[in-house]
Amino acid sequence: MGWGCEMLLQVEELDFSIETTQILRSISFSVAPEEIVCLVGRNGAGKSSILKTIIGLYTPRSGKILLHGQDITSLSPRERVLRGIGYSPEDSRVFADLTVAENLVLSTWITGHTSRAERISFETIFAIFPEIRQFLHRKGLHLSGGQKKMVSVARALALSPSILLLDESFEGLAPIVVKRFREALKRIHEMGITILLAESNIRIASQVADRSYLVERGEIIFEGHPQEILQNEKLLRIIGR
Ligand SMILES: Nc1ncnc2c1ncn2[C@@H]1O[C@H](COP(=O)(O)OP(=O)(O)OP(=O)(O)O)[C@@H](O)[C@H]1O
Ligand SMILES: [Mg+2]
Repeated sequence: MGWGCEMLLQVEELDFSIETTQILRSISFSVAPEEIVCLVGRNGAGKSSILKTIIGLYTPRSGKILLHGQDITSLSPRERVLRGIGYSPEDSRVFADLTVAENLVLSTWITGHTSRAERISFETIFAIFPEIRQFLHRKGLHLSGGQKKMVSVARALALSPSILLLDESFEGLAPIVVKRFREALKRIHEMGITILLAESNIRIASQVADRSYLVERGEIIFEGHPQEILQNEKLLRIIGR
């Protein structure tokens, strides 16, 4: 069936509204296996809404989402996770009263997949984020913002996803932590996991992504390497840089 089957994720003409406000307009894009793709755009452009629609937290008015060529548009978030989508939300959502270790096994409790063979082990998580070993038994409440981001990304890896959706994983991190995160993403990518990021910092996007889509007012207005956006004054003006 043509080119589409080679894509890991395809989003086709998504429209999404909250009450009478249209948030996403005819959003179409695709991610090939093992790519690192970034949705870039200024605050309020619609990046998070796109990721939430892909994971199933938002229900589109029309349009389709295909994973490995299969239509997942009407599946629940839980079913999408089981099909191989990992998601780390913008606000991390690390549970304050649970320890880091408990947060990391949470997805396996929720999905009932305690015995899934390919489930990612703590050792694999420590290989990606060595720092987590030091605060594994600390409660979520006592973590810094950067530590929460790490735990949230690590937790999204728990069921060995084929694609990882990362919403602003670099936001608010000190430069040294940004560097650690970039190394972690590289290791995740080397495990064969495809990555789709939402990132409002175009420079960070240009350091990590193979390809990007520029989102503006709920529409995709440009596709290309983030470096092309950085070199295009008209686009930079649009995103307010
Ligand atoms: N649950 C919601 N209720 C009301 N408005 C919403 C909701 N979710 C998104 N919006 C609106 O939709 C638009 C897109 O928001 P979204 O969070 O997707 O943008 P974003 O590109 O992720 O921005 P940021 O860079 O600030 O994270 C904004 O105008 C926002 O106010
Ligand atoms: Mg956002």
